[in-house]
Amino acid sequence: MPIAGTTAWNAIRAADVGPGSVVVLLGTGGVSILTLQLAKAAGATVIITSSSDEKLERARALGADHLINYRTTPDWDAKVLELTDGIGADLIVETGGSATFARSINAAASGGTVFTIGFVTGTEATANLLPIIVKALKVVGNNTGSVSDLRDAARAIAAARIEPVIDTLYSHDQAAEAYAHMAAGGRHFGKLAFTLSW
Ligand SMILES: NC(=O)c1ccc[n+]([C@@H]2O[C@H](COP(=O)([O-])OP(=O)(O)OC[C@H]3O[C@@H](n4cnc5c(N)ncnc54)[C@H](OP(=O)(O)O)[C@@H]3O)[C@@H](O)[C@H]2O)c1
Repeated sequence: MPIAGTTAWNAIRAADVGPGSVVVLLGTGGVSILTLQLAKAAGATVIITSSSDEKLERARALGADHLINYRTTPDWDAKVLELTDGIGADLIVETGGSATFARSINAAASGGTVFTIGFVTGTEATANLLPIIVKALKVVGNNTGSVSDLRDAARAIAAARIEPVIDTLYSHDQAAEAYAHMAAGGRHFGKLAFTLSW
């Protein structure tokens, strides 16, 4: 909640997401899945990408409207434009970094927000500046958020009766197993979590 929840909430707020907004989420990790849940509660259309068709189906069950497998459709930005009649997305939650940043810029609508938060594929990125200028994009950075952002996120999650998706719950003495699960990459959907017994 303090990291993925607050960040997802700040993404929704940064782009003033409401009914009819188009939101693009990259992958099915903790931030993307909580943003999916908040975006659907706000009435948005959600396009989500993943390396796995099985995970995409799980995203559909949570309300995702359009599914793109970024392995079989590497030009997923073109697919976003096709799905939106050439208009693009109002919000892209840029969790990918090096491999995705330029495509996120391409997939954004005029005046859209590229909420730049992650670096799953690295921190170095190059992008054509022209679409940022011509489409007057908002490239917005974020570093989690404040305690009051967390309070607002928790309130919204409770009001929308959202249940955050926990892929696997580990006990605190299973830390090595949990980190190995995460380090394997691409295996989880949503969050991995620990129970703490102090
Ligand atoms: N700045 C902030 O405020 C902030 C806050 C929270 C997190 N973050 C950062 O945001 C990123 C995501 O965090 P998280 O907790 O959601 O991570 P996570 O749970 O580890 O999820 C990462 C997901 O990225 C997807 N992915 C991997 N390669 C990809 C690619 N080439 N294109 C698209 N998606 C790809 C995978 O989805 P599939 O398995 O479905 O393919 C994977 O599950 C991390 O870099 C994290 O450090 C930043």
